[in-house]
Amino acid sequence: MKKLILASISMFFLMSGAAIAGDAAAGKAKSAACGGCHGFDGNSPIPAYPKLAGQNEAYIVSQIKAFKANTDRQNAIMMGMSAGLSDEDTADIGAYFQAQRLKEAAPFDADKAAAGRELYKGGDLQKGIPACQSCHGPKGAGVAGIGYPQLGGQYADYTLAQLKAFKNGTRKNDDKMLMRSIAEKLSDDEMDAVSNYIASLK
Ligand code: HEC
Ligand code: HEC
Repeated sequence: MKKLILASISMFFLMSGAAIAGDAAAGKAKSAACGGCHGFDGNSPIPAYPKLAGQNEAYIVSQIKAFKANTDRQNAIMMGMSAGLSDEDTADIGAYFQAQRLKEAAPFDADKAAAGRELYKGGDLQKGIPACQSCHGPKGAGVAGIGYPQLGGQYADYTLAQLKAFKNGTRKNDDKMLMRSIAEKLSDDEMDAVSNYIASLK
C-alpha cells in the first residue's frame, strides 16, 4: 500500500512537471495585448517587432519564461508583457501563434542574402560553424517538437540583433550554449549576410 501511494505521488509530480499543451482558441483572446506590436495574426508589420506567425509553441513558451525571469534574456517591454501571464496563458498564446500562417518574406538586400546562403546551407567547415539549416530547416521553419525556432521570413535587423546578443553574451538563455557557441565564430559581415538570407526565406 505504502509503495502504491509513493508511486502515485511520483506520478503526480511527473505529470505536473510536463508542459501544458496550449489551446489556440483560448490563446486568440489572450493574445489581444500582443497584437498591437506583433500583429494580431503574428505577422508584425513593423521591423522593430519580431514576427510570431507560425513560430512554434515550445519556443514561444521558453522565451516568455526567459523574459519573465529577466536574467538570461532581458527586454524591458517583454518583461512587462510577460509578467502577468500564467503558464496556461503562455501555452495558449503560443498555440495560437503557432497556428497562424507566416504571410510573406521580409525585405532583404539581395547581395547580402546571396552571400549568406552558403553559410546557412552548408556552414563553414574551416571555422567549425555548423549549417544553420541542420537545426532551423532548409526554409527556416525550425523544429516545433523540440522548440528550435522558426527563423524564415523574420526581419533582418531583429535576427542580426539576436546573433549579436548571443555573440556578446547579453542573450544567454540558449540551452547548452547552442547558439552562443555558433555566434561567437561569426563575423559582423557574416551575421549581416545570413540575417538577410533568413529574411528572404518563406
Ligand atoms: C509594445 C510592444 C510589444 C508588445 C505589446 C508585445 N511585445 Fe513581444 N516583443 C517586443 C519586442 C521589442 C521584442 C524583441 C525583444 C528583443 O529584442 O529581445 C519582442 C519579442 C517577443 C518574443 C520573442 C520572439 C523571438 O523570436 O524570440 C516573443 C515570444 C514575444 N515577444 C511574445 C509576446 C507576447 C506573447 C505578447 C503579448 C502577451 C507580446 N510579445 C507583446 C515587443 C512587444
Ligand atoms: C545545433 C542546432 C542549431 C544550429 C546548428 C543553429 N541554431 Fe540557431 N538556434 C538553435 C536553438 C535551439 C535556438 C533557441 C535558443 C533559445 O532558446 O534562446 C536558436 C536560436 C536562434 C536565433 C534566435 C531566434 C529568435 O527568434 O530570436 C537565431 C537568429 C538563430 N538561432 C540563428 C542561427 C544561425 C544564423 C545559424 C547558423 C550560423 C544557427 N542559428 C545554427 C539551434 C541551432
